[in-house]
Amino acid sequence: MKYKLKSSKGWVVKNQRPEEFLLGPKFYYSDEEVERYSRSSGMKKAQEKIAFRVLKLLSIPEGSTLLDLGSGPGITAEVYRSEGFKVTCLDVIPKMLEKAEAKGFACVLGDMRNLKELFPKRKFDGVVSVSALQWLKNSEDVKQLAEGIFFVLKKNSPCIIQFYPKSEQELKDVLGIFKQAGFSGNSVTDNPGNPRKRTIFLVLKKTSN
Ligand SMILES: C[S@@+](CC[C@H](N)C(=O)[O-])C[C@H]1O[C@@H](n2cnc3c(N)ncnc32)[C@H](O)[C@@H]1O
Repeated sequence: MKYKLKSSKGWVVKNQRPEEFLLGPKFYYSDEEVERYSRSSGMKKAQEKIAFRVLKLLSIPEGSTLLDLGSGPGITAEVYRSEGFKVTCLDVIPKMLEKAEAKGFACVLGDMRNLKELFPKRKFDGVVSVSALQWLKNSEDVKQLAEGIFFVLKKNSPCIIQFYPKSEQELKDVLGIFKQAGFSGNSVTDNPGNPRKRTIFLVLKKTSN
C-alpha cells in the first residue's frame, strides 16, 4: 500500500509483494494463477491456519452470518462453515468465485470497496477477511472499505481482518482509519519477533451507530 511514512520507526518489510507493483488483483489472478492458487496445498494449509485464528478472535456463536471479503476460492470460508457459520463469499475475480460457488457458498461478485452498493439492505453478524486488504492502494480505498464494513455490520458485531502491512506505521494508519469510521478495537500480532511468521490481525467491533 502506498503511504507516505511519517517516520521510519518500527519494522518495515523490505521484500516487494505483487500487491505493491501491480495495479490490482485482476493483473495477478489470471485463470492459470487461480488454478495454481486453488490447488496449492501449501496455500490451503496457510489460509486454514489463519482462518482458525480468525474464529478465535471473532468469538460469536455458531450459526451467525459471516461475510468473507476477498474470499478467493473459499478456503477460509470452508473453515468457517465447518465450525457452523453461514458464510457469504465476496471476491472481485469471477474465476475465484466460481470455485467458491462450486463448494456451495452464497457468492457475490464485486469490489470490497463497494459494500454499501453491493449490500444495500443486508446486515451480517460478522465480517472477516484473510490476506486481501493489502491489495488496496491508498488510504482513501481503506476508508471506503472501513465505511462499507461499518454499513453492512449489525451493531456490536465484530470484524476481523488479517493482512500484510508494509510497515508498523502502515498498520497504525489503517487501524486509525477504521477507528475514524466508528470501530473500536486494536491490532493483534502473532509471532511479532519473527518477520517470516509475523501474522497481523485487526480485531474490530462496530460499537457506535
Ligand atoms: C490470497 S487471496 C484469497 C484468500 C482467501 N481468504 C482464501 O481463502 O483463499 C486474496 C483474494 O482477495 C481478492 N481481492 C483483492 N482485492 C479485492 C477487492 N478490492 N475486492 C474483492 N476482492 C479482492 C483477490 O481477488 C483474491 O481472491
